[in-house]
Amino acid sequence: MEQGNNSPYDVLRDHYANRPQVIAQLGQSLDGRIATVTGHSHFVTSQADRVHLHQLREICDAVLIGPGTLIKDNPQLTVRHVAGANPLRVIMAPRAPFDTHYAVFNDHQAPTLLLLPPDQTVSLPAHIECLYPQPYTPQGILAALAKRGVQQLLVEGGARTVSAWFAADLLDWLYLTIAPVVIGAGPTGLTLPPISHMDQAKRLPVKRFSLGEDMLFRLDCRAAKSPQDPAEPSVEP
Ligand SMILES: NC(=O)c1ccc[n+]([C@@H]2O[C@H](COP(=O)([O-])OP(=O)(O)OC[C@H]3O[C@@H](n4cnc5c(N)ncnc54)[C@H](OP(=O)(O)O)[C@@H]3O)[C@@H](O)[C@H]2O)c1
Repeated sequence: MEQGNNSPYDVLRDHYANRPQVIAQLGQSLDGRIATVTGHSHFVTSQADRVHLHQLREICDAVLIGPGTLIKDNPQLTVRHVAGANPLRVIMAPRAPFDTHYAVFNDHQAPTLLLLPPDQTVSLPAHIECLYPQPYTPQGILAALAKRGVQQLLVEGGARTVSAWFAADLLDWLYLTIAPVVIGAGPTGLTLPPISHMDQAKRLPVKRFSLGEDMLFRLDCRAAKSPQDPAEPSVEP
């Protein structure tokens, strides 16, 4: 791992702005998979990447996951491989039925916030807070979390959730770890609206870091622009 001025995290420290900074991460295989066909993903990447993920959790004050990740992984979303405080755990529950037997609702390791659509009620332990973002979109969720005081948000997964935030142009930084392993089949990482022409592809400023046997790419998504019309290739001047 490169450190000092070349730390992967130098762009995240000391973030002071009037909108939350949004960071996302994905760990994938050489063939772009984030899990097997059964959803098993422990572990695609190396131990060094797990330390990296916990470092991102420690820097951010909130970490968000989609329902697919909650159901498949039952994660704790705490900081265990580095020193520091656990972030606020933000769990998306866009539709019923919703089950509350998962660790984040019962382990008392960190504050936990459940994001519900306006018409949904869930019987929850008293220490779990609920928010009702309107609309229930990445933009609506970010606005609700900003009002709640979140300043740095880690969108940890899964792929469909990270892709939705990327497609909504809300990511500032995407940390993409690529492990030297081939899974061959299974869910892939980023999936975005289709483009027809290579000059519509997003070529983002990127910095590379070596992470044990893996390679970490830090993409500067602030430079990303969604195509005006995916059917119309842009014309060179
Ligand atoms: N390698 C990594 O970095 C990494 C990180 C996190 C997670 N993961 C892996 O990613 C996979 C999960 O990612 P994902 O993209 O599938 O999902 P996700 O982004 O965690 O969650 C989004 C999906 O959850 C489904 N969903 C919504 N409400 C639901 C409900 N009430 N009950 C059940 N499903 C509901 C929706 O799918 P539908 O509307 O289509 O049902 C939605 O597209 C897991 O296998 C996890 O292990 C990998």
